[in-house]
Amino acid sequence: MILGDGQYGGERFGRLCLHCRQVDWPGLTASLISEDPPSFSALVTGENPNLALCHDRRLQWLPTITNAFRAVHRDEIPGLPAAVDVYGDYFDAIWFDETADPEKAAHRLDPVLAQISRRHGCRGGIVRTHRRNPHQRGLVTELRAVGQAPPDFFTVQEHGLLYEISLTQTQHTGLFLDQRDTRRRVFLAARGARLGNLFAYTCSFSVAAVAGGAEVAFSVDVAKPGLNTGKRNFELNGLAAGGRGKFVQEDARRWLQRQLRRQEEKPEIWQPLDLMVCDPPVFASSKKGGKFVVEKEWPRLAETTRRLLGPDGQALFANNHRGGDHGTYRKALRKHFASVTDLRPPLDFPVAEGRPHHVRLFWCKV
Ligand SMILES: C[S@@+](CC[C@H](N)C(=O)[O-])C[C@H]1O[C@@H](n2cnc3c(N)ncnc32)[C@H](O)[C@@H]1O
Repeated sequence: MILGDGQYGGERFGRLCLHCRQVDWPGLTASLISEDPPSFSALVTGENPNLALCHDRRLQWLPTITNAFRAVHRDEIPGLPAAVDVYGDYFDAIWFDETADPEKAAHRLDPVLAQISRRHGCRGGIVRTHRRNPHQRGLVTELRAVGQAPPDFFTVQEHGLLYEISLTQTQHTGLFLDQRDTRRRVFLAARGARLGNLFAYTCSFSVAAVAGGAEVAFSVDVAKPGLNTGKRNFELNGLAAGGRGKFVQEDARRWLQRQLRRQEEKPEIWQPLDLMVCDPPVFASSKKGGKFVVEKEWPRLAETTRRLLGPDGQALFANNHRGGDHGTYRKALRKHFASVTDLRPPLDFPVAEGRPHHVRLFWCKV
């Protein structure tokens, strides 16, 4: 069977597929039979083969560790400017073409969402479209419910840990799915560690670290709502008792400077950090802290973070700056860390050929 080959009538497909279904070997009475992979049988069942291929790529493995994952990544289905995430019983679809009419977008997504719902047991979900409004700066996001509307708040699980999600009440959902593998890394590196989690949002890295045995996790963020969700995430996982989670509402740059001053002024009681997470926004502006532009701040974040780490210190640096230069970000880290390793995003965020990295991830050692 051959897919993606015009000569055999196949439509455009994400890769060339050859599958040998049956082998008859001289001397063997029984044939060797191998079932078609799901993306092949999709051709027979009428399912969208590109969507079935998305499923194949995830190796049917993700649902064994989490019920929150990306079912379709941006650019993964040729010609479909959308991504679809599954959060437990609900999907969250994002339509990236700002010029498209939301009705038409929803119409094009309908069959994809129906298939995803069937495969993953979703009851319904949300479609997000973005529109440029001439009277306002930036984009306006429109949400529309499809099928059963999700509750305002619910939980998902990842590697046995629970996280609060909202698909309707907050700008982001509460859990960045592209950081799943790095959360796991932090969990595995956390035994006995003192963690500094900068730009902590809903504190998912801190939850993973404390669950992994961290002595203490400082979650630092300017925004209170995220930290409040973080506190609930600690409670959901039975990690609130014992005070190992510290929640600090402050500009991360100020917090770093405060730690450096303490280190200098009180070296006898100063304790270094063992693990740092630094996952800043590309751009932000706050009343107290003013503007934050990742390109500009990155070199100083690299330097101050390094200075707060002990001799065996490790740090995860991440950013989503699609337009930024990967080499420049890496070089700034290499100036202060003995080793810097590029990490790949999880397998449900495949890197499309010729497209910028969706997220940059660096694991650094002192
Ligand atoms: C990309 S999100 C971080 C995601 C988080 N690391 C996670 O995996 O869930 C960026 C966060 O940075 C926070 N933020 C923006 N400017 C900040 C600043 N100057 N200091 C501290 N936090 C800031 C935002 O409130 C937001 O929660």
